[in-house]
Amino acid sequence: MDAIAIREGASEPVVLDVPRPEPATGEALVRTLRVGVDGTDHEVIAGNHGGFPAGESHLVMGHEAVGVVEDPNGTEFDRGDVVVPTVRRPPPSGSNEYFERGEADMAPPDATLERGIDGAHGFMSEYFTSPAEFLIEMPDEFAEWGFLVEPISISEKALELARASRSSFTWNLERALVLGNGSLGLLTVAMLDDIEVYCLGRTGRPDPTIELLDQLGATYIDSRETPVPEMPTAHEPVDLVYEATGYPKHAVSSVEALAPNGVAALLGVPDSWTAEVDLGRFHEELVMQNKAIVGSVNSGPRHFRAAVDRLSELPAWFFEEYVTTVSPLDSFHEAFNPDDTAIKTAVEFDTL
Ligand code: NAP
Ligand code: BGC
Ligand code: ZN
Repeated sequence: MDAIAIREGASEPVVLDVPRPEPATGEALVRTLRVGVDGTDHEVIAGNHGGFPAGESHLVMGHEAVGVVEDPNGTEFDRGDVVVPTVRRPPPSGSNEYFERGEADMAPPDATLERGIDGAHGFMSEYFTSPAEFLIEMPDEFAEWGFLVEPISISEKALELARASRSSFTWNLERALVLGNGSLGLLTVAMLDDIEVYCLGRTGRPDPTIELLDQLGATYIDSRETPVPEMPTAHEPVDLVYEATGYPKHAVSSVEALAPNGVAALLGVPDSWTAEVDLGRFHEELVMQNKAIVGSVNSGPRHFRAAVDRLSELPAWFFEEYVTTVSPLDSFHEAFNPDDTAIKTAVEFDTL
């Protein structure tokens, strides 16, 4: 079967012919429908994040998948069920406390593999297998957008953690600043539909992401004109910062954009960066203004289920505008090398 993989030393993924997997006991065989591409995939291709499975010199890409059960193989699924796989799998050393608790998303990097990212092949192949416990069922009617369940689940978890950190007092979330007008940032803006939202990028009009933000009723901020620390004076301080740029300075400057009692959720996965920071002011502001920073990575089954619900609540027009590119296998490069008009891209292996 065909699979899209990155080979060691290469800078672009290629189609490889790989054996169709056989489901082991407890696993189902899934026929892949669509697999999305995000910033992490580009970091993996660039060799800045993740790695190859042990002893192998290629990695099948893709962690944002939706598929249909081809062979339930004695699991609780029926043939034809539409499913979304979670990303993390136990490391070669075997299961551990995080997996046993069903909280693989809380495992440190050395206690987990990530399919399509770190040490385990992903879902960009005509078929994949998965233990049933890592498959989340979703309604057929939303199957075409099912590859968005994984990225939505990322924000479900981060927003849950942010809210939890503010749960010991009366926190009124009225205003948020999303850092990053990329695939994760825009999805999160759409999810924060009941509050005032600013979204920061570093580009100017005309740009499809800014047009989408206009349609969502959000306010676009160009970081070249208004850097994050200037948000409170140029606009308003915010109750929540959601960082989805991977720009390391934002970890510190987010705190300056917060109103008292606010929280910053950091999602980006940056490279090393050294900078001069007034740590005294940073520390003092966290303490004296009861501010919090939470880091959040990956997501668990509860967040996937919340994301499935969210998928049915978000307006259909949003998906039509947000997902600009769904490439068939023979032109999959378009999904990895999008032009200026593209926002969210995916590869389509098959239809329901
Ligand atoms: P993406 O599509 O590459 O989006 C990143 C966006 O941030 C781009 O639009 C980029 O603008 C913008 N940006 C970068 N630096 C900026 C700056 N200094 N000022 C203003 N805008 C800036 O990536 P993504 O898929 O949305 O993911 C965002 C980040 O979250 C990545 O670091 C990714 O690895 C991480 N991530 C983490 C998780 C998790 O579980 N924690 C899950 C998914 C993704 P330009 O395009 O104009 O450069
Ligand atoms: C994926 C997560 C993963 C994270 C770190 C994100 O793009 O969506 O599932 O845990 O990258 O590798
Ligand atoms: Zn991702």
